[in-house]
Amino acid sequence: MTEQLRLLGMGMAVPDKVMANEDFEKIVDTSDAWIRERTGIRERRFIGEGSLTELAAEASRKAIARAGIAPEEIGLVICATATPERAVPATACMLQKKLRIPAGTPAFDINAACTGFIYAMAAAQAMLPAIRGKYALLIGAEEVSKILDMADRGTCVLFGDGAGAAVAGVTGKPGTRVRIFADGDEEALSCGGYGGEDRHLRMDGRKVFRFAVSRLEGEIRALEEETGIPVSGIDYVICHQANARILDHVRRKFGLPEEKLYVNLDRYGNTSAASIPIALAEMAERRMLAPGKRAFAVGFGAGLTWGSCYLEF
Ligand code: COA
Repeated sequence: MTEQLRLLGMGMAVPDKVMANEDFEKIVDTSDAWIRERTGIRERRFIGEGSLTELAAEASRKAIARAGIAPEEIGLVICATATPERAVPATACMLQKKLRIPAGTPAFDINAACTGFIYAMAAAQAMLPAIRGKYALLIGAEEVSKILDMADRGTCVLFGDGAGAAVAGVTGKPGTRVRIFADGDEEALSCGGYGGEDRHLRMDGRKVFRFAVSRLEGEIRALEEETGIPVSGIDYVICHQANARILDHVRRKFGLPEEKLYVNLDRYGNTSAASIPIALAEMAERRMLAPGKRAFAVGFGAGLTWGSCYLEF
């Protein structure tokens, strides 16, 4: 049986620079109405000045403060990012000194695209000996804006930059595992990505849409089975924020009332690995995550990758 991780404090940070849908009307052949109707996004943030590592540090400081712990008590740092400021050293290492986390503490990055934060949770759960008596700092941080092709209207309007962080502790209680999966077959690889000869993000929106809907559904059902709690008995379902129509599908499929499915993509767009921890941090800020509250968190992304976990606050 696995031990349950508990998220004790959350924080988020987004850049000041707001990119509204109207700003894209000047760049590509699109409209505020199209973007709103087809995606649910109204605006997103882009890092103009400043750096991703600074943003991740700000989110982390808030998470550490809200958890009420000292940086010295952190025994593991994992940063999920597909768009690090530098490939090497890892963002997690660059954060270590900034946050006064003691030298010697293991710190590394994970790239599982938009599922990154769930992967970070799974890695922390698998590394419990490193955090027993201490805490893990888990971060999702992305600067997707720097890989966007601002001439491709099918992708450039969808994404935003941001960072979310959580301090996790070990409860000592038996719990369910964090579920993580990937499928790198040719069909899956053709859904999207960036790097290699093409420095820009490319995506087959329709394929990803179908994949997202089926995985979200599958993961919610799997969590129901693993936890023995029907989704109707869960307080919140926190999905990766990619498209409001994907979220609507999930809401209808499971008959979820609006307040159970958290949505903030209208303000941030798709922030990839940062989207779930940003949602968690906002929910905590709004006092939605009181002790005893229970949530399913579900992510999906390029790779293809997907995963989910049960959270108890
Ligand atoms: N403004 C105006 N028109 C646009 C547009 C934009 N920003 N982007 C695409 N279009 C056009 C297309 O060119 C297409 O035109 P055509 O019919 O003349 O070829 C038309 O809109 C319909 O395109 P389609 O791809 O069918 O639209 P859609 O309803 O599937 O929406 C996405 C496109 C990208 C919004 C949608 O597929 C999506 O969100 N997919 C999932 C993406 C995702 O979640 N990615 C992240 C994974 S972690």
